[in-house]
Amino acid sequence: MTTKNDASQSTNDAVKPRVRRTHLSLFVADPEASAKWYEDVLGMEVTARGPEWVFLSYGLKHHDIALIRAEDGARPGGIGLQHYGLEIDGDLDELRRLYGMLLSKGVPVVKTTDHKVGFGVYFTDPDGNRFEFFCETVQDDEEGKRILGAHNAPSETVDLDPLYT
Ligand SMILES: [Fe+2]
Repeated sequence: MTTKNDASQSTNDAVKPRVRRTHLSLFVADPEASAKWYEDVLGMEVTARGPEWVFLSYGLKHHDIALIRAEDGARPGGIGLQHYGLEIDGDLDELRRLYGMLLSKGVPVVKTTDHKVGFGVYFTDPDGNRFEFFCETVQDDEEGKRILGAHNAPSETVDLDPLYT
């Protein structure tokens, strides 16, 4: 008889996840308050809600981000999400426009960086969860991998001028 334990000791290298897309689920202090921010700043729409949670979508899928009420007194720790990167649909000017939008809405911007494969603007949600809008400047994915490796995944501070139009 094959037990679960036996199965875990065997390997099957042929089985490899083929991920279509991702979603993120976050503990937040106040799901409804955070959902307003996600609608306003990230342009998302609420697709489902309950007393303890809100699901939001970028418009295509039933949900891309879920906000779940954290336990009372929960505090951000040093282990867990470092940041969640959102590749924008648009060029560097669009990233500058989003940067301007963040500043005009008083969203805390942590840093702006040059990754050699693109540029990133990092900011935080109402609970301090860090997000990144990034604009890819290298469109070919294989070339992107090569450049990222060659430069040791660079993250250099860069001055980015926000656009307000
Ligand atoms: Fe990133």
